[in-house]
Amino acid sequence: MTSTAISGARILSVGTALPEQVLTNEDLEQMVDTSHEWIVERSGIHERRIGGTTSDLAASAGKAAIERAGIDPATIDLLILATTSPDRRVPATASTVQELLGLQCGAMDLNAACSGFVYALVAAHGFIEMGHSRVLIIGAETLSRMTDWTDRTTCILFADGAGAAVVEKTDGAGDLHGWHVDSNGSLEEALFCDFDGKIEMAGQAIFKNAVLAMENAARKSLAMADMSADQIDLVVPHQANVRIVEASCKRLGIPYEKTSMVIHRTGNTSSASIPLALEDAWTGGRVNQGDNILLVGFGAGMTSAAAVITWDGI
Ligand code: COA
Repeated sequence: MTSTAISGARILSVGTALPEQVLTNEDLEQMVDTSHEWIVERSGIHERRIGGTTSDLAASAGKAAIERAGIDPATIDLLILATTSPDRRVPATASTVQELLGLQCGAMDLNAACSGFVYALVAAHGFIEMGHSRVLIIGAETLSRMTDWTDRTTCILFADGAGAAVVEKTDGAGDLHGWHVDSNGSLEEALFCDFDGKIEMAGQAIFKNAVLAMENAARKSLAMADMSADQIDLVVPHQANVRIVEASCKRLGIPYEKTSMVIHRTGNTSSASIPLALEDAWTGGRVNQGDNILLVGFGAGMTSAAAVITWDGI
């Protein structure tokens, strides 16, 4: 699928929130048959944060992004909350977050698993192209509620957190040059969580397909942007496993040093992971005006999504 209708919108600001409770690999050694060394070698994770509700984490991240943008919350036209761990089946957790933030606007949840934030970013650009001025997008998760803490193949990976961005209309062409969203429903059984169940995963199948899906989404969005991989200054990948990111970068011909990685301290926070890594790069001085940034994720579904933007935010 291709599109030439790239909108005049830009990411203005980002904000994040993490729960206070830290769960280290040493803590997990007390819970399941694992070791700090195994977890670090196989995933790159040293510790993760757990606790809170999806709506509280989302609201904290959203508030941070709004404050950093210095905008009046009343000017936000729409809230899109990417989450795979909503507080309730009904209503959408976005409505709870809207109330917490005191917004007067449309609000909806979007579930594209770990690709959700990039899906939301693309959707926000589309809504702005159709007339909205500002859209708040948030990726927020409390995966700890869906984790089987007796299953060492999954409990070492998943965690909680939130990240948000204010996306606003611009006069020019905007920051989004290329994007791609995808799903391969035939892989549903490789990673799922039933209602009232816990996450079940075929780790190796996900690993193999994740590398290919990230490469495919990145290549398609680069092609739409008419850019080559060496024009990318920063890669902000979904934080599922350091080795998946290394393998994807290698296939794309992008040096791993160009990635923003927070997985060592956050674990896999699904739709929150890309904004968490983007904010980390921004606060670390690695995001400059005019930088070309590749956001790329994959997740259950199996979904994948990528966006190529040129940074024009604060
Ligand atoms: N601690 C110690 N040993 C563990 C372990 C743990 N937490 N989990 C599994 N093992 C064992 C396995 O039982 C297996 O033992 P065996 O060789 O005696 O059978 C061995 O370690 C290797 O397991 P394997 O599954 O081959 O490891 P891996 O290198 O594939 O790493 C994952 C496992 C889960 C880290 C990796 O497959 C992965 O990250 N997959 C993608 C998951 C993902 O990204 N999910 C989210 C998508 S958004």
